[in-house]
Amino acid sequence: MSENRVSRRQFLNYTLLGVGGFMAAGMVMPMARFAIDPVLKANAGGDFIATKLKVADITTEPQRIDFKFDQKDGWYESEVTGTAWVYKTEDGEIVALSPVCKHLGCTVDWNADEKNQNMFFCPCHYGLYEKDGTNVPGTPPLAPLDVYPYEEKDGILYLGKAQPKGA
Ligand code: FES
Repeated sequence: MSENRVSRRQFLNYTLLGVGGFMAAGMVMPMARFAIDPVLKANAGGDFIATKLKVADITTEPQRIDFKFDQKDGWYESEVTGTAWVYKTEDGEIVALSPVCKHLGCTVDWNADEKNQNMFFCPCHYGLYEKDGTNVPGTPPLAPLDVYPYEEKDGILYLGKAQPKGA
């Protein structure tokens, strides 16, 4: 008789171990998948969102536009409203600026301060920005307004995620 024979007890142990491991994997895999599901899903952050603004309607005067999009935070989905100030430069280049003041996050307005015409104005602490979003030295904001990357599709303006100017 061979010395390497598997005893009945060993065979039973191996079988139970194999079946138990298989069942444990069957239970653990769906749980692990559920736990990391948002990480596995494609990130929609790089997507461009359609606004209702026709590119042909963009003038050299900044206009405020609001646009809605779905935002996912882990498992939580919500509809969010974004805002941008959009205009064309004299060269016809589209500029889309975030309205969020770089000082403490208030909302800037265009041409809202009588003493500082044709500038973005933040009423919270008298922050000022040039038309291109550059912060005016001597006012509280220390950085330019963030800029939205944009695309044009079928004559409609699409906006990406706002980024610091020059990023
Ligand atoms: S939040 Fe805009 S100037 Fe302070």
